Amino acid sequence: MLYTEKLMEHFTNPKNVGVIENPDGFGEVGNAKCGDIMQMYISVNDKEEITDIKFKTFGCGAAIATSSVATTMVKGKTIREALKITNKEVIEALEEIPAVKVHCSVLAEQALKSAVSDYYTKRGIDPTPIVGIIDESAAHH
Ligand code: FES
Repeated sequence: MLYTEKLMEHFTNPKNVGVIENPDGFGEVGNAKCGDIMQMYISVNDKEEITDIKFKTFGCGAAIATSSVATTMVKGKTIREALKITNKEVIEALEEIPAVKVHCSVLAEQALKSAVSDYYTKRGIDPTPIVGIIDESAAHH
């Protein structure tokens, strides 16, 4: 089977799709491999917990499913905990995804990093030591 049941479930009924008005952080990245775009919005409270997260993508079904599951894993966590979630863990939560689709799953990770960078930059904090370098080839401006 090419797509697991879990993946199909998140594709058919994705969680956290949409937009947050006046987000604390906003990120947008493009996928270097396919050119698809991902936008991510986060709300953050004063304990640096991600209280809400929404995404919008022009990516494929695998991008939608991985972003859906990634956002459910991130929601309620602190920014630092959220940044520790690896792409591998996201894929494991979906059991597996086809190898040719792994590049799609990176979109959510990069978009979250981009949104967190925006959050810190708005507060006058240099995000690089916290977030690391966002893959420039994936960054879309
Ligand atoms: Fe572009 Fe999957 S083919 S995100």
